[in-house]
Amino acid sequence: MAVKLILFPLELISLARRLLFEKEVTKKCKNYPSILTIGVSPNEQGKGIGKRLIGVAEEYFRRNHYSSFFVDTEISNTKAIKFYQANGFITLISKLGNVLLIKSI
Ligand SMILES: CC(C)(COP(=O)(O)OP(=O)(O)OC[C@H]1O[C@@H](n2cnc3c(N)ncnc32)[C@H](O)[C@@H]1OP(=O)(O)O)[C@@H](O)C(=O)NCCC(=O)NCCS
Repeated sequence: MAVKLILFPLELISLARRLLFEKEVTKKCKNYPSILTIGVSPNEQGKGIGKRLIGVAEEYFRRNHYSSFFVDTEISNTKAIKFYQANGFITLISKLGNVLLIKSI
C-alpha cells in the first residue's frame, strides 16, 4: 500500500512531463510524419526485423515526398536510442525524460 502511495505521484509527474514533451514535439514536427511506436517481440530482437520495419516506413514517407520523419522514446530506453542511432536518426530534443530523434530521407 505504501509503495502504491509513493508510485502514484511519481507516475503523475512522469505523465505531466510526457504531456509537456508531446506539446513541444507537436509544435516542432507538425508538418512531418512520425512513428509513434515500434516493437519486436523479445525472442525475435536483434535479427534485423526492427531495421526492416523502419525501412518500410521510410520508403512510404519517401514516396509521399517527406524529407524527414521522427521517433520518440524515454531517455531511459537506451536500447531503443542506440537502435535508432544505428538506423540513421539523430537527437533533436532531449528533455523532460524523453528524447525526440529525426531521420532525414
Ligand atoms: C528497439 C527494437 C524495435 C529494435 O528492433 P530489433 O529487431 O531488435 O533491431 P534490429 O535487429 O533490426 O537492429 C537494427 C540495428 O540496430 C542496432 N541495435 C539494435 N538493438 C541495439 C542495442 N540494444 N544496442 C545497440 N545497437 C542496437 C543493431 O546493431 C542493428 O544495427 P546493424 O544493422 O548496423 O547491425 C526492439 O529492441 C524492441 O522492440 N524493443 C522494445 C520496444 C521499444 O523499446 N521500442 C522503441 C521505443 S517506442
